[in-house]
Amino acid sequence: MISLKNEREIAAMREAGRVARLVLDEVGSFVQPGMTTLDIDQFAAERIRKQGARSAFLGYRRYPCNICISVNDEVVHGLAGKRRILFGDIVSLDVGVYVNGFVGDTAKTVAAGGCSLEAQRLMDVTERSLHEGIAQAKAGNRVSDISRAVQECVESCGFSVVREFVGHGVGRSVHEEPQVPNYVDGKPSPKLRSGMTIAIEPMVNAGRPQVEMLNDGWTVVTKDGGLSAHFEHTVLITSSGAEILTCRA
Ligand code: MF3
Ligand code: CO
Ligand code: CO
Repeated sequence: MISLKNEREIAAMREAGRVARLVLDEVGSFVQPGMTTLDIDQFAAERIRKQGARSAFLGYRRYPCNICISVNDEVVHGLAGKRRILFGDIVSLDVGVYVNGFVGDTAKTVAAGGCSLEAQRLMDVTERSLHEGIAQAKAGNRVSDISRAVQECVESCGFSVVREFVGHGVGRSVHEEPQVPNYVDGKPSPKLRSGMTIAIEPMVNAGRPQVEMLNDGWTVVTKDGGLSAHFEHTVLITSSGAEILTCRA
């Protein structure tokens, strides 16, 4: 069942989205070469607490960290630890927070100090594909219209979309129906209706789309060792288009 949010719930989602974005930007600015991923996660925990929020990821299916930090060939769900960020690394940060019972979920990839032109192009195309998807996120369209827009943008630039992980409905839980794939699979796809809140989140690989999981049971990496980037917004579907709930505050 796909839940439609009423005005009161939408107001709460706006607040959760605002806080998620605020924390994501704070953490993004904090990332520097030389620090460990644990330093980043602890900073994130502090900023989330400062907002009176709580991590929506910590403890979710026993996920052990406050945010997801995925470096270079890590696609999603990277675990914080002793790894040191090096100059030129690209770092995907995914922040999910609970505020008053509702979730805001947003992600971006940032460069540590600087990065190669190819890495920058990967990040730019991934963010652009997110906005191409958002442009299709309006009542009357189908989820597959979002998927198609993302996939076309990514593949026309020579990159590939990850299949195994997808966007999703979001609200009282991190993951609600419907699934929002970043590729077209030909399966019947739900119609978008006003009041739906969904997270659109392309995960884009510079090389091949295949991924594998590390032995830690969480970290997803590219099979070919190429770079991966991830951008995500939580959006509200309305009859005139999408309202981005995780827009810059
Ligand atoms: N990356 C997921 C998303 O944005 C959420 C991560 S769940 C966790 O939808 F448990 F891995 F943190
Ligand atoms: Co997320
Ligand atoms: Co998400």
